[in-house]
Amino acid sequence: MKVTVVGAGAVGASCAEYIAIKDFASEVVILDIKEGYAEGKAMDLMQTASLNGFDTKITGSTSDYAKTAGSDIAVITSGIPRKPGMTREELIGINAGIVKTVAMSLIEHSPNVILIVVSNPMDTMTYLAHKVTGLPKNRIIGMGGALDSARFKYRLAEALEAPISDIDGMVIGGHSDTGMVPLASHATRNSIKVSEFIKEDRLQQVVEDTKVGGATLTKLLGTSAWYAPGAAVSALVQAIACDQKKMFPCSTFLEGEYGLNDICIGVPVILGKNGIEKIVDIPLSDAEKAKMKESAEGVSKTNGLLDV
Ligand code: 2OP
Repeated sequence: MKVTVVGAGAVGASCAEYIAIKDFASEVVILDIKEGYAEGKAMDLMQTASLNGFDTKITGSTSDYAKTAGSDIAVITSGIPRKPGMTREELIGINAGIVKTVAMSLIEHSPNVILIVVSNPMDTMTYLAHKVTGLPKNRIIGMGGALDSARFKYRLAEALEAPISDIDGMVIGGHSDTGMVPLASHATRNSIKVSEFIKEDRLQQVVEDTKVGGATLTKLLGTSAWYAPGAAVSALVQAIACDQKKMFPCSTFLEGEYGLNDICIGVPVILGKNGIEKIVDIPLSDAEKAKMKESAEGVSKTNGLLDV
């Protein structure tokens, strides 16, 4: 199993590290345009192998996509992260060109690759990859919902004063500060609805805190987060690489599902060796359906800024 991570920045390097530590891939190639940067990150990570107990071979490359040839899975993290006060959507001007070039370079050397898009604005970058590569929709996946769901569970555990291992919850919709849809009505503590444990106003606060989870960290860190994004995308890579048939909310191209067409947006999917094996239709309340529709309108508006 060969995995390429494009972008040796904090998110890409964290993703590569988590993949290596989980030791399910034979090889991880990290690629970046900055001279020597990916090679340095790869060497530093390889020097943790004896300490963290993995045999995964991590190598780095400066802009040489031949080194990524034959990748089974490729993660696109390249582009600029947002600064405090910025929205993810404001990154489109620079990141669209980067993602287009990276995606085309990857498929040139790995025609059977499954692409996972992380670069922001993620839903629109996923849509761009879909349009420019022509890959089948099951092989283009946007990572946002897995991260947002992890943040949702963190906030729920905090509100319920419960261990996170007791908590389950999912966030669908656009990966945006205003558009994501935490499914409060479905969230549980060990199969019991969380609404049995906290009042409605506290639950709504959890929802609002989840929606700005990325912006909250960008304000604290001065740049976008990286540990949780890296961990979230490594979980998707593992589900595909190990054919786990796990369900995650991922951005995928919709053709009528959830009443939406010609858009990439976060919905529940089953991930396995073929990438997106199935889009899962789950019951949504009228309020959740309305929020999903509103979220899709926001993503479509950002898509309209693309030149595709
Ligand atoms: C986040 O929400 C980077 O979009 C990513 O932290």
